[in-house]
Formats: sequence, C-alpha cells, structure tokens
Amino acid sequence: MGRLEPNRVCTGSVKCVEEAGEIVSGTRELADRFGRIADDLRISLIDKCNLRCTYCMPAEGMTWLPKEHLMSASEAVRIADIGVRIFGVKDIRFTGGEPLVRKDLEDIIAGVRSAHPAVPISLTTNAIGLDKRIDALVNAGLTRINVSLDTVRRETFRAMTRRDRLEAVIDGIDAARRAGLHPIKVNAVMMRGLNDTQEAELLAWCLGRGLQLRFIEQMPLDADRLWARANLVSAREIRGRLRESYDLTPHPEPRGSAPAQLWDVRHLGGSDVLGQVGIIASVTESFCAACSRTRLTADGHVRSCLFSNEETDLLGPMRAGASDEEIAEIWAGAMWAKPRAYGSDTVTLNTPGYVPPERSMSEIGG
Ligand code: GTP
Ligand code: 5AD
Ligand code: SF4
Repeated sequence: MGRLEPNRVCTGSVKCVEEAGEIVSGTRELADRFGRIADDLRISLIDKCNLRCTYCMPAEGMTWLPKEHLMSASEAVRIADIGVRIFGVKDIRFTGGEPLVRKDLEDIIAGVRSAHPAVPISLTTNAIGLDKRIDALVNAGLTRINVSLDTVRRETFRAMTRRDRLEAVIDGIDAARRAGLHPIKVNAVMMRGLNDTQEAELLAWCLGRGLQLRFIEQMPLDADRLWARANLVSAREIRGRLRESYDLTPHPEPRGSAPAQLWDVRHLGGSDVLGQVGIIASVTESFCAACSRTRLTADGHVRSCLFSNEETDLLGPMRAGASDEEIAEIWAGAMWAKPRAYGSDTVTLNTPGYVPPERSMSEIGG
C-alpha cells in the first residue's frame, strides 16, 4: 500500500491511514461533518486563576479539579505532539484558568518546542507574574501572548476582576514588550455599566504601546449565569463608539478562521494608520462556519466546540496505556462529531431558550 495523498480528507478515523500501511506525519486531519478542518489547538493547563472576572468565574465557591486529574507536563506535551505530528496542527495555544498558575509552564513549552521547533506556541494569560517569568518562558520557546485586560482604570478593573491587580497586569505586559514578543494582543470583554464607555480610552492606551486590542462580545459562559442578551455590548455598538474618536476601515488582509475581525485605525480625518483593532463578535456575527479550533480541557478531554456539552476523554485512555494511534483515533472521532455552531447543529446563541453549556469559561479553557 502506498502513502495517503497529502490532501486527501480523512473521514475522522485513523483506519484510512492504517489501510495505507504507514503513518504519514500531518497527513491526517481533524475534519468534521461540515467540511471544517481543525489545525488550531487550544490546551487548557489548569482551571484555577488568581482573578475572579465576573464574566467568567463566581466570587467564590468554585470547585477545582483535583491535582491528579490535571494533565501532567509530559501528558500535555504528548497530546500536543500527537496534534502536530499526526494531525498537522499549525498553532498551539495554552490557556487556563490562568496558565501562569502552572509552575511547570516553562517545562511544557520547552517539551513541545524541542519536538517541534517551528510550531508557534502562544499563551492567553492575565499576565500577573509574567514579568518574573518572561525570560524563562521565551527561552523555553514561547512565541507570543494575548493578555486579558478590560480597562485601564483601577476602579473598573477591581469591579470587573474582583481584585486590585491592574498594576501587576501592566507590569506583565511591559515585560513582554521588553522581551520583544510581537504581536501582543489585548483581549477586552465588554460589559454593560462597567467598561462599555471606555472603548476609545483603552484603544488609545494600547495603540500608544504598540498592542493590538480586540474587543470581545461577552459570551454566556460565566459561572454565575448572569449573561443576558439584553445587556450585550454588541460589535455594532463598539464600532459606533470607536468611530466617535477614530476612523475605522476594514484591514485588507484576509481574516481566515480568526475570531477577530480587524480594522485599520486612523485619527479622524487622518491618513496614517495608527494600528489595528479587532472585534470578536461571537454572539452577533458568528464565525463558526470557518472554525478551525480543537480544544483540550485541563483534565485532558477534547471539546470540539467551546459551547458543546460533549467531551471526549483522551487522558483516561492515555493513562491506561493507549498508543498515540489509539489516542489519535479517539480525538478524530470526537472532532468528526463537532456541532455546526455554538455546541449544536440546530440552535444558535440567539435562539429563544438557548441553554449554555454546563462548564463555565475557566473550566473549558477559553
Ligand atoms: P489569536 O490567534 O492570537 O488571534 O488568538 P484568539 O483570538 O483565537 O485566542 P484568544 O485566546 O485570545 O481568545 C480571544 C477570544 O476569542 C476569547 O473570548 C475566546 O473565548 C474567543 N474565541 C477563541 N476561539 C473561539 C472560538 O472558536 N469560538 C468562539 N465563539 N470564541 C472563540
Ligand atoms: N465571554 C467572552 N470572552 C470571555 N473570556 C472569558 N470569559 C469570557 C466570556 N464569558 C475571555 C477572556 C480571555 C479569553 C480566553 O476569553 O478575556 O482573554
Ligand atoms: Fe467554533 Fe464552536 Fe466557537 Fe463556533 S462556537 S467558532 S463552532 S468553537
């Protein structure tokens, strides 16, 4: 039997490769029933966090995963390796909770980097404590970071995160800038009555530091279940408020499967492009049709969609002695069943009576 043709779409089973008689690196794909291919891997490393953002966690009372349920550094590295080597994953992002809470984050990044020198490895982080670890993380092989920062006002920060840590976040961002990471993206979730009139101020702050700001529509993934469609600060509203202070024109580069739609920013009536701003409109301008993401929770379950309740355990079989091939088969099967959008083949976030997934953002990994 010969090799699989590189562009042949797998049906979600490793059988086709076994029939071909040999394993060909990156020639199988994490395909789904709607023709999408997942090559963007998001691995949550821990559900804990040192902030309590209201759009994500409750003030108290979160039940943490027991330590022995978390993927160890070597288990996370092995899963990432299966993703890259067998499924041709092109990007790996570590998330949480807060990934910096893992003391062995440097080891995990170094493990993936030594096996895959070219794959981009990024973090989505709140940047607290990053100033002390940035050199070690970059030496380990970190490529870039996205930082969650919803406001540059101390009082608003405290109200949104329930912690007085704005300075620590800014120190982390500045350390990443000094270390030369680029681009550094800033994620701002917009919340009615909290930061929803601060768009232009936050954009000016980010442009002044060479950071790419992205505004995010809040998704119904908060542990408190307080999300309400009626309170949504929509992409349209955000653009409207930005246009009171800046000219926005669509950024010319193709968006591909990125959640953020990018805009070039100019002063009103100006000609120089000051930078880009992104808007992630998960609720009102769905990008599910182009979704390229496959997710792992911190306890090693595949979640084919951010919103689905279905999860498929990879860590259990791995600990029971499954081979890479067997793990790949389970992973591919889970992704083949990926729902059309928002965890469902039929409803959307805007369908009346929509029920959010059981696990909240910090438990899923963002
Ligand atoms: P880049 O590759 O740097 O652009 O990262 P990213 O925007 O894909 O990832 P990041 O972790 O910074 O996430 C930014 C926001 O996009 C968060 O609110 C995520 O939950 C959201 N997001 C990321 N991927 C998806 C997705 O597949 N579906 C939905 N609905 N939201 C997503
Ligand atoms: N809706 C939208 N984005 C969210 N994030 C966390 N919770 C929500 C939510 N309910 C964002 C964080 C972080 C990223 C992983 O997800 O700001 O940047
Ligand atoms: Fe992909 Fe699900 Fe997000 Fe839609 S909601 S973009 S299908 S992960």
